[in-house]
Amino acid sequence: MIISKSSGLRGKIKVPGDKSISHRSVMLGALSEGTSHITGFLNGADCISTINCFRSMGVDIEYSGGSELTVHGTGLYGLKEPSDILDCGNSGTTTRILSGILAGQSFSSTLTGDASIQKRPMKRIIDPLKMMGSYIISIKDNGCAPLRISPSKLHGIDYTMPVASAQVKSCLLMAALYADGDTVIREPALSRDHTEIMLEAMGAAISRSDSGVVLHPGNRLSSRDISVPGDISSAAYFLGAALLIPDSDILIENVGINPTRDGIIHVLKKMGGNISLMDQRSSAGEPVADIHVKSSELSGTEISGDIIPALIDELPLIAVAAAMAHGTTVIKDAGELRVKESDRIALVTGNLKAMGADIEATDDGFIINGKDGDPRPLKGTLIDDANDHRIAMSFTVAGMAASGETTISHPECAAVSYPGFFEDISSLTDR
Ligand code: S3P
Repeated sequence: MIISKSSGLRGKIKVPGDKSISHRSVMLGALSEGTSHITGFLNGADCISTINCFRSMGVDIEYSGGSELTVHGTGLYGLKEPSDILDCGNSGTTTRILSGILAGQSFSSTLTGDASIQKRPMKRIIDPLKMMGSYIISIKDNGCAPLRISPSKLHGIDYTMPVASAQVKSCLLMAALYADGDTVIREPALSRDHTEIMLEAMGAAISRSDSGVVLHPGNRLSSRDISVPGDISSAAYFLGAALLIPDSDILIENVGINPTRDGIIHVLKKMGGNISLMDQRSSAGEPVADIHVKSSELSGTEISGDIIPALIDELPLIAVAAAMAHGTTVIKDAGELRVKESDRIALVTGNLKAMGADIEATDDGFIINGKDGDPRPLKGTLIDDANDHRIAMSFTVAGMAASGETTISHPECAAVSYPGFFEDISSLTDR
C-alpha cells in the first residue's frame, strides 16, 4: 500500500465496534442463559476467531459478517468439548480470556494461534490459573501457546497481578465464575473494565474498589442485548491524522470513551490538540461521545504511570504524533509494548528513524525529539509493519503527514481490528 502526502481530512466518520467489547459480547453471551442480540459488532479477524472457538464448543451463533449477530447462550455449564484444537488466530484477547473459561469446564481442551500468538507470554495466566487449581500447561513448556487445559476443581484466590492487564484480569474473572469461594484480583493500575461492566449487567455478583475487583461466584448469567460502541483504538488513527494534517476538521461519531480507555484524548489534548467531546451518552453501560477534532500544532509531553494501561494500544500512534510535535516527548512504564502482536518499541523506533525522526528506544518506552521550527519533517519510506495491525495503521497516518511516498509492507493486517481502514481514511480526503 503506497501512501502519499494527504490534503486535510473533512467530514464525518463512524469507526467499527470496539474490539475488546465485541470479544466479550460473544464470550459472555455464550455463557449466559437466553439470547443476546449484538449490534455494532467488530467484523475483524480477531473477533471472528472468538466466534469460531465458541461455535466449536457447540454455541449457536447466527452471524454472516457485518455488525450484527445473535448468540444463543448455553449457560455457564452448556459448552461442549471441541473436537479439534481451538484456533485463536492472532488474538491475545481470545487466547487469554478463553483460557479462563476453559479452566472451568468439565472437558479437556487445547488452544493455540498463529506464529505471533505462539510467542506471546502466557505464564501470566498459567501461574494464577494454577493457583486456582487449574491443570493448565504450555505444551512446549516455553510459557507460550499451545496450551492444554484439563478439568479440575477451581477455588477462589486473592491475587495481585504483576502487570496491569485486562486480558489477565478477565481470564481470572471468567475462571472465578466456576470457583468455590470469592476471587479477589488486584492490579497495579486500573486496566480496561469492560468485562466487569458486562458481567455486572448480566447478573454476576461483582464488587469493585480502589484495591481491586471481587467476584462472588454462584449467580447465573442472563443474556443481554448489547450495542457495541465504536472503538477508541480505531478512532485514534483519525484523531492523529486530523491533528497532524493541516486544514483538517472531522467528526468521529459514536466512540466509546470509557475512562479506562480514554488516555489518548487526555494526552493529545495536553499536547495541544483541538479535540472536543460532543453529545456524551451511554451505550451498553459504556460512556460514548462524538469527537470533533481539528488540525493543531502539537507540543511534546511526558506519558508514564497509571495512564499507560488507558492508552497502551495507542502508543504507536502517539509516538508518530510526538515525532511531528515541537519539543521532546518521553514515554515510560510501557514495557508491555514489547510483548504485543510485535515488539512495538523496536518497530516504532526503527520505522520512525527510517522516516527521519529523532527517536530513541528505552527498555520501557521512547524518547522522541520533535523538531522545533520545523515540526513536520518526516519523509516517506518503506515501513516494516511486521504484520502488526496497529503499526500498519499508525504508519499510514505518518505517511499521510510526511513528504514523499510511504509504503506499508502488509496493509492487509489492518483487518485484524479494522477491515475497511484504508477506504475509511481516504473517504475523508476525497473531495
Ligand atoms: C485487551 C487488553 C490489552 C490490549 C489488547 C486488548 C482486552 O492487552 O492491549 O489490545 O481486550 O482485554 P493486555 O491485557 O495484555 O494489556
